[in-house]
Amino acid sequence: MILSIESSCDDSSLALTSIENSQLLFHLKISQDEEHSNYGGIVPEIASRLHAEQLPKILKKLGDFLRNDFSSIKAVAVTTRPGLSVTLIEGVMMAKALCLALNVPLICVNHLKGHIYSLFIASSAHSHVFQNPSFPLATLLISGGHTQILEIQSFEKMRVIASTLDDSFGESFDKVAKYLDLGYPGGPQVEQKAREFMTDFPHLQPHNFPIPLLKNKNLEFSFSGLKNAVRMAVSQLPRPLSAKDIGSICVGFERSACEHLVRKTELYFQTESAREVSYFALVGGASANLYVREAFENLCRAYDKTLLLAPLEFCSDNAGMIGRAGIEQYKRGDFTPLHSVDIAPKSYDGDFQA
Ligand code: KG4
Ligand code: ZN
Repeated sequence: MILSIESSCDDSSLALTSIENSQLLFHLKISQDEEHSNYGGIVPEIASRLHAEQLPKILKKLGDFLRNDFSSIKAVAVTTRPGLSVTLIEGVMMAKALCLALNVPLICVNHLKGHIYSLFIASSAHSHVFQNPSFPLATLLISGGHTQILEIQSFEKMRVIASTLDDSFGESFDKVAKYLDLGYPGGPQVEQKAREFMTDFPHLQPHNFPIPLLKNKNLEFSFSGLKNAVRMAVSQLPRPLSAKDIGSICVGFERSACEHLVRKTELYFQTESAREVSYFALVGGASANLYVREAFENLCRAYDKTLLLAPLEFCSDNAGMIGRAGIEQYKRGDFTPLHSVDIAPKSYDGDFQA
């Protein structure tokens, strides 16, 4: 099996995955949401200290699971890029120590490829998932750090089709939550407040925000204009903010942000290369959003694409997805000598084609 480690941001996580059948055998994650909630975003120094505390605790549990017999571990996979260097280093140091102690090779995993392979984690709780990748596949990766459409022919052959010009999709939810004092991470909070508004005030019109880049036909995303429109609207609301106003802003923002994703993906679906692609996936932390999932179910139906979604528990950062991507690299003999690990390199473009 492969032991995998994820610490690129604010989740400390370890997993064990069977090399033979990609089955997830052990998976544990400790999130730091509460600790960062007061700041409305991640404080790297705090995140790093918490990883230093939590990762060894999880390793102890993993040892208990294995009855301290680590002999079946054939490699250690760890996220090395992209991410916060001060948090990545915590996972990488643990990975190196384990490689030395167990005399096994190290696999350096790109976190974004991990998100893509979250689609193919086999676990006893989710027997229906695709265990083997179905290519060609296009994905919309929506996380706290990225908003990208990627076209994927194989593990090595991935092409970035569209990226964001400024903020990411998830980040814009975090900012909106900050303006409304909803805590961090903002995505689940904003989604919930929007849902409550629709149930509690079915006859009210929610706020209406413009859809970003509506007339622009380029394959690119932008969320900073929408974010600022929300900030302005919130600043004009009476204080203290009422549940009705908070919900109304959340619905309007979520609709506009989601419609932007849908319209740009629709533009992509109309391109020559997209016609060859019959599978489309949503991945990344924000792909847990049920409103977005539903919108893409409709879009994929209209364009005759099969929509792939990871189980909710594997959408946000986790070591299971790093182990699953690690298996692909293990099979290709893609190992990195311990002395040449590059943490959070400025450019990881080589992982993707332009
Ligand atoms: O993939 P992830 O766990 O971490 C990164 O790689 O960035 O994604 C975290 C991001 C956060 O910005 C969070 O607010 C957003 O995903 N998110 C959501 C939802 N759940 C998490 N955004 C919108 N709706 C959600 N339900
Ligand atoms: Zn992530």
